[in-house]
Amino acid sequence: MTRPAAAVGASVDDIDTPALVIDLDAMQRNLATMAAFAREHKLKLRPHAKMHKSAAIAKLQVAAGAVGVCVQKLSEAEALADAGVSDIYISNEVIAPHKLARLAQLARRITLAVAVDSTLGVDRLAEALKAAGSSVDVFVEIDVGQGRCGVAPAAAGALAHQVVSHGLRFAGLQAYNGRAQHLRGADEREAAVRHTVALVRAAQASITASGMVCPLVTGAGSGTFAFDAATGVYGELQAGSYLFMDRDYADNQTSARAPQFEHALFVKSQVMSRSTSHAVVDAGHKSHAIDSGLPRVWQHELEYSNGGDEHGILRPNATATLAELPRLGDTVWLVPGHCDPTVNLHDHFVVVRGGLASGVVEAIWPIDSRGCLV
Ligand SMILES: Cc1ncc(COP(=O)(O)O)c(C=O)c1O
Repeated sequence: MTRPAAAVGASVDDIDTPALVIDLDAMQRNLATMAAFAREHKLKLRPHAKMHKSAAIAKLQVAAGAVGVCVQKLSEAEALADAGVSDIYISNEVIAPHKLARLAQLARRITLAVAVDSTLGVDRLAEALKAAGSSVDVFVEIDVGQGRCGVAPAAAGALAHQVVSHGLRFAGLQAYNGRAQHLRGADEREAAVRHTVALVRAAQASITASGMVCPLVTGAGSGTFAFDAATGVYGELQAGSYLFMDRDYADNQTSARAPQFEHALFVKSQVMSRSTSHAVVDAGHKSHAIDSGLPRVWQHELEYSNGGDEHGILRPNATATLAELPRLGDTVWLVPGHCDPTVNLHDHFVVVRGGLASGVVEAIWPIDSRGCLV
């Protein structure tokens, strides 16, 4: 693990670069906004911790009313459980027997749930839980338009039936449409949710036809949660990115139906080279993920272009002049294009209270499940 970029009590000016920085005031406003939204709509909130990978943050979310958190990988669940998170849903399939044996052991010490989308997966899960003498909640995942995991809605009833016939707890449906989250137009996202919900209803009908009830539908992300909530079909929201609000999400058209969130995650960088035409900062794509596009330069009329692993090149944007270029040694704050994989590049969050201009480092939080891909 690397050394943190600052000590607790240091001023923002003294945070070494490049560093992954949380604006704690903004993050706490985002956290409270989503918690209030879930409360007002009488929905459970189970934020996705694949985004922040931090037990400290998961605990703040639970303290604000979340019922627990989601993760995508077993090793993420193990890392967060080791750091004191006690209610975790692996919203994903686990199929390898040796992993299922670990999952069954984990279920002995925390409240655990997992998604399934195959009869083989259910058989293996049941076998592992029996061997360990533990139990989990089991969600049947349906494909609601992403073309990724999940059974066809009409097959949900048969799989749920298989779950209960093994003596396992059928907890409901996993229905997350990742493709809908970044459709830019609010109307486009709302239309995608209408399609998703028709598929969820078909899956619920298939469960009813198999003689069972569907206790809960869980899903939704930061792009669609307000539309999902309005359908009356979802009982639990899994949004994750709302907490940090990356550039890609900020590029979505907002909707009057959804509360707004602020950028709360930044990469602090420094100008390390300067010419008459451009400035170069010390943060390249080893400091921030670029799968969803390049970072936005915060509060400057500058365009960031990729300078490689360790460099970013800044030029005035279309409306600015060369006078906008920062000087050698200046600080430049970047808003990452995609928060989840950006977080996965760092060992720590430097947590700042009091704003990026003159705040103070209040804490260093480890990124507990960094690199937990298995
Ligand atoms: C299954 C699942 N649920 C919820 C989310 C949360 O989405 P977001 O971080 O976009 O809010 C994701 C993100 O990819 C996901 O894969």
